[in-house]
Amino acid sequence: MNPLFMSKHILLGITGGIAAYKSCELVRLLKKQGHSVSVVMTNSATEFVSPLTFQALTGNPVLSDTYSGASNNGMAHINLTREADAFLIAPATANTIAKIANGSADNLLTTLAAARKCPLAVAPAMNVEMWNNPANLRNIEQLVSDGITVFYPNSGEQACGETGTGRMVEAVDLADLLEDLWTPKLLSSKKVLITAGATFETIDPVRGITNISSGQMGMALARACRAAGAKVTLIYGQIQTALPAGLAHSEQAISAEAMYQAVHRHIHEQDVFISVAAVADYKVKNSSNEKLKKNGNQPPVIELTENPDILASVATLPSPPFCVGFAAESHQVLEFARTKRLRKNVPMLVANQVSVSMGKPTNQITIIDDLAETSFPETSKRQAADEIVKRLAELLA
Ligand code: CTP
Repeated sequence: MNPLFMSKHILLGITGGIAAYKSCELVRLLKKQGHSVSVVMTNSATEFVSPLTFQALTGNPVLSDTYSGASNNGMAHINLTREADAFLIAPATANTIAKIANGSADNLLTTLAAARKCPLAVAPAMNVEMWNNPANLRNIEQLVSDGITVFYPNSGEQACGETGTGRMVEAVDLADLLEDLWTPKLLSSKKVLITAGATFETIDPVRGITNISSGQMGMALARACRAAGAKVTLIYGQIQTALPAGLAHSEQAISAEAMYQAVHRHIHEQDVFISVAAVADYKVKNSSNEKLKKNGNQPPVIELTENPDILASVATLPSPPFCVGFAAESHQVLEFARTKRLRKNVPMLVANQVSVSMGKPTNQITIIDDLAETSFPETSKRQAADEIVKRLAELLA
């Protein structure tokens, strides 16, 4: 099994902020992903959520004092991070951030941060003025230069009633971003543009032509590329799934023409283009601004005209990024895919069977490139995306 998908042990540090309630949901999501979680709390965190809550959610004892003796040899500050694949502090208060930035170790949580061997990430949560305080921003910079990952807070309405930056990243996004900590950086600092989802071609104000693509493969690839260290720009049509966190840029482009324009606005700065979107080959020539009405026995005539081929247009740019195409076929999958790769002039193409891929959480892919043709068994789209990233990194090297 790919070691990336083996369950991890996560040490979750909780400090004293109202966002501590979001960490209950985070534990639930991490457990659902198959990970195990141990919780360590500062004393002030226990004022916000009871340790018993986290004990029940994790199934593990919750530690909050350096000398509690709950660890069998009294070495909790060493043992807890030695057993962990990652240490996440969420929420991280300005106070705890300041202590970690300065190497202070005055409670179990900060001592663990100082004595850790595993990767450390912090998810700050605080009032907007505290976040913008130059001392805090200096401390954040210090954490980053010390190799600590910062999941930067969101902007919005705060528990104190003020508005601005300081809201902790949502639990669902933290659970998504956490995997970046243990993923090898195969695409470090590469810029990757991905198209995803289904396009929609308007017939009239209430009707259109679309397809059954859900966007799941594109989202899985965006996550896999981000986790591998890439700066991801995502241009998506209609999707039935959540957008990944931590993207460099994302925007929606519903029609093929809008997607073509959006891709060409961003393509010049990209190293890689992965064209996952199920783009309509044709748009409606005679689309109507008014809703079409039934007209006796006379069905309306919908005239079609060809859309631009986005992938082919990128692949034929004077200095194109490395292009990866997809081919979803209902039959003769490999034959059509091989021809499509040559026709579109792309170095790498991923072939899949419509019936096991489109609109589904799983996929069975074959990667075709200049050197090899490799088929993988049916897996989750996320695992398929990791195989694509692995091969992409080999070809880029
Ligand atoms: N594609 C694109 N723009 C289009 C059509 C397709 O960028 N107008 C891209 C898709 O994102 C995919 C690849 O081209 O990466 C192949 O798409 P597919 O729909 O399988 O092939 P088509 O070129 O449409 O050919 P056909 O309909 O004959 O299968």
